[in-house]
Amino acid sequence: MIRTHNCGELGDKDQGQEVVLAGWVASRRDHGDIIFMDLRDEHGVTQIVFDPNRNSAAHATAHELRNEYCVKVTGKVSPRPEGTVNTGISTGLIEVDVEKVEILSASGTLPFEIKDISTVSEDIRLKYRYLDLRRAPMRNKLKIRHNVSRCVYEFLDSEGFISVETPMLTRSTPEGARDYVVPSRLQQASFYALPQSPQIFKQLLMVAGVEKYFQIARCFRDEDLRADRQPEFTQIDMEMSFVEQDDVLDVCERMFKKIFTDVAGKDIELPFRRMGYSEAMDIYGTDKPDTRFNVLISDITDDVKACDFKVFRSVVDSGGSIKALAAPGYGSISRKEIDGLISFVSEYGAKGLAYFKVEEGGLSSQISKFFSEQELRAVKERTGASPGDMIFIVADRKEVVCASLAALRLKIGRDAGLIDSSRHDFLWIVDFPLFQFSEDEKKWVSEHHPFTSPAPEDLCFLDSGDLGKIRSMSYDLVLNGSEIGSGSIRIHNRDIQEKVFSALGLSEQERREKFGFLLDAFGYGAPPHGGVAFGMDRLITLFTGDGSIREVIPFPKTQKGVCPLTGAPSGVSDTQLRDLGIKMRRVKSEDC
Ligand code: AMO
Ligand code: AMP
Repeated sequence: MIRTHNCGELGDKDQGQEVVLAGWVASRRDHGDIIFMDLRDEHGVTQIVFDPNRNSAAHATAHELRNEYCVKVTGKVSPRPEGTVNTGISTGLIEVDVEKVEILSASGTLPFEIKDISTVSEDIRLKYRYLDLRRAPMRNKLKIRHNVSRCVYEFLDSEGFISVETPMLTRSTPEGARDYVVPSRLQQASFYALPQSPQIFKQLLMVAGVEKYFQIARCFRDEDLRADRQPEFTQIDMEMSFVEQDDVLDVCERMFKKIFTDVAGKDIELPFRRMGYSEAMDIYGTDKPDTRFNVLISDITDDVKACDFKVFRSVVDSGGSIKALAAPGYGSISRKEIDGLISFVSEYGAKGLAYFKVEEGGLSSQISKFFSEQELRAVKERTGASPGDMIFIVADRKEVVCASLAALRLKIGRDAGLIDSSRHDFLWIVDFPLFQFSEDEKKWVSEHHPFTSPAPEDLCFLDSGDLGKIRSMSYDLVLNGSEIGSGSIRIHNRDIQEKVFSALGLSEQERREKFGFLLDAFGYGAPPHGGVAFGMDRLITLFTGDGSIREVIPFPKTQKGVCPLTGAPSGVSDTQLRDLGIKMRRVKSEDC
């Protein structure tokens, strides 16, 4: 190498040694005669001293140096003079007296100071991501990612899994998003789809006799982006043959124990808690609850169904539900704060938010007059509220009630500081329904994906058409309210797979055309199998404490799916289009 040491390793023991270091100019301080420079590389920072009396040529060059120049210095390690020791860095006891300095590469004026990005917009950070990544906190995130990958490889290898790559240019793999499509030059007017996940290929690997597969796999989904969603992201993807649900959950739990011990130095308790989907929806309003605080939702429909409050009565009459939660200590919040909460829940579709202040004597509210004493007592008891609390109530369609109270619960947890951020609450959600009725599409859709096995005891409902009653053999892993993984025992029987496709509205021709190859494979002795995939990026943010997965992805896209660094997506040349047999035509959005 062109250096003898890195910038983080020199100390007392190296005094008097002749060393060569290379790195970037982190800062330069000109003290008249003597010039000090902090030289930074991936490992740390070392103070370099340019003394004109020691070496005038090097001192002259030091005048030319600017922040982020890449330089190589040769010099001697000496102890820092008394009073100048820096205990904040690993090399704080020494400095290097320069004999020779060489500029390896100059830097232009920087778009932002590497040391402080507090006022820099995300777009600029992403445009100059290579500078952003020079910062120690960002590099640390890359290392955490690497360490998690290494742990996954080590652990799964020791359990007998093998890593197998699956194609990027493939057919559609339905995971509920739009596909990214790639035009084919050789088969004109045909398109590959980028995989939304390796789902079908990992199942084919099971048919192929690979008993334990894994892959740190890139997935592509064209969907609306959010803080926890990117168009391309990474999964820790696994699949196993001859297993039951407990086997899959067990190996995953042990893998997480290793990851948390090795990467974060944290011990986590096994086994993880499990909760049925319907219980989670009942008490948290969501299938990815943050279980680190104990505010729960209660159903008060029966308690108030005979009340005189018209809004509640009409919701009950139209088959909706009425649910409540008690917000600890919220009894004294102002009218303005309440209005803020009303407008907050309206974003989730709630048409209003009723509230009762809990006092020693009972519940008080502008709408109390519509309720009997007994009804008010029942609401207080059902919600477990204490004096000083505020009971918030939403009445609506069940989905709206769940979504708005789940969001309100989380907001209260965060705003009131009820969440213990040192906790890592893992929770398996199990016993999902196999299908959900989509009000938007007016048809049944898979709750997970169409390859998920129905619970054997509910197979009869697949034949009778009671699709809402079928439970599935799927499971989600939730950590601190974030869905970090999802999986299932799969269908390995061709007939059942055909029936599920048909329940989803796929005609025989569509089934053949889209999934014929999978159905064919199931005709050649497919083993029972199941698996899971974890969102690597979401997992890493839980280690780093970042609010967005863009922070832990080396080169992410913006919310609009753009890469400010490369300018992707971009137009292509006429020649490229001609080769692909594609002609561009501008269409008005209403014609799409
Ligand atoms: P699913 O679609 O639930 O399951 O994805 C598994 C996990 O991947 C993460 N994830 C995402 N992370 C970032 N950006 C996205 N756009 C994104 N979408 C999903 C989540 C999620 O829990 N093939 C199945 C798994 C299986 O059944 O084995 C699948 O992909 O953390
Ligand atoms: P209104 O009679 O519409 O003025 O509402 C009286 C109170 O009931 C207000 O506090 C509203 O926010 C609340 N409210 C109205 N609709 C609902 C609803 N669907 N669920 C819960 N509270 C509601």
